[in-house]
Amino acid sequence: MPETLAIINCSQVVTLQGARRPRTGGDLRQLAIIEDGGLILRGEYLEAVGRRREIEALIADDCEVVDAGHRVVLPGFVDAHTHPVFAGMRANEFEQRASGATYREIAARGGGIRASVRATRNASQADLVRAGKRYADWFLRTGTTTIEAKSGYGLTIEDELKLLRAIKQLNDETPLCYVPTFLGAHDLPTEYKSRRQSYVNLLINEMLPRVAEERLAEYCDVFCEDGVFTSDETWQILSAARCHGLGLRVHADQLALSGGAKLAGELNTATADHLEHTDATGIMALKAGKVQPVLLPGSVYALGSNDYPAAREMIDAGLAVVLATDFNPGSSPVPSMPSILSLACTQMKMTPAEAITAATINAAYSLGRGDEIGSLEKGKRADLVIHDAADYRELAYWFGVEHAWRVYAGGKLVYGRSSASC
Ligand code: NIG
Ligand code: FE
Repeated sequence: MPETLAIINCSQVVTLQGARRPRTGGDLRQLAIIEDGGLILRGEYLEAVGRRREIEALIADDCEVVDAGHRVVLPGFVDAHTHPVFAGMRANEFEQRASGATYREIAARGGGIRASVRATRNASQADLVRAGKRYADWFLRTGTTTIEAKSGYGLTIEDELKLLRAIKQLNDETPLCYVPTFLGAHDLPTEYKSRRQSYVNLLINEMLPRVAEERLAEYCDVFCEDGVFTSDETWQILSAARCHGLGLRVHADQLALSGGAKLAGELNTATADHLEHTDATGIMALKAGKVQPVLLPGSVYALGSNDYPAAREMIDAGLAVVLATDFNPGSSPVPSMPSILSLACTQMKMTPAEAITAATINAAYSLGRGDEIGSLEKGKRADLVIHDAADYRELAYWFGVEHAWRVYAGGKLVYGRSSASC
């Protein structure tokens, strides 16, 4: 018999129960909160979610009981866009940007993604896993239990496979769940600078078949941007990925309006990510193609820009908005979803409730896991966090604070700390 655990005395259980689909419009604000609630976990799954009295009536003699101390309980965050496997870091570029250099200027002189590619090619899978475990710990201790994880710092067949194998190993050896994405089209490798189509052909004819054959990725992504991959190249790569059974995601309109959102709409990709420069036509294309926008305010902030994506217009247009960190060593060195909630509310004028929906159930749907994670409901995976706050709005309000107090992944306590009760 799987072990049971009851969590009682929760000021709010933020369940996000509701229609079995990504939330849009006014539904983004419906968190389905149970005041003075509790939960029962049986093994990996949730057995019951309800009012304290209902839960207490279900507690059997052999059930372990955790008193949440009048704290708030949320589903584990689902971070639907990260680049968590790379060697080295780029604090030097951070310093250069503080002195006025731009992300594009640094990339043009051989830094940026290419600097991480050089370091990552020189690293072994074991090196990457060692570094990746440190970041896994950062995600877990900020309340994230599932991340989408992209390759993209190898850009040769063997190096991209090495990254995807490292992601698989991290999934097996840490409590964090990884959803792997092949991002061989993250940049044009230096050695292919004057042979663009040859690299696109390599991606399509050699890399994608290997990745699919070894079942190393669920999604394929392309950095569609002026100076990186054109709309036409992106179309070729994503169409080939679809033929291999991969879901599609795309980095779109990050640094300039380059047609990525329009293309995402035409290809009906699962998501279009970034969208800092997407205009009304792009928003309409996303709506027509049922594409979920994944907004990444951490990268806007870390690049010192003010070009936050038009979240309110996207919500008004009926899009099922997702929030994610874009954790990576260059444009977004932030693993913390609470920091992203803060940026979403202060810079993009989302409400705390909308931001939480975007960071949990909508993110889960964007990864094809809306039936398994992202809300607290009987039968779902017991991925949940007791935060050291009494009201869910505090997660976005107190910024720079460590909120997670107990983190459960698949019913197991994977992080906990002591602190004064709230
Ligand atoms: O999403 N835009 C492309 N990729 C990343 C940046 C990666 C890097 O700078 O290393 C992003 O922002
Ligand atoms: Fe990214």
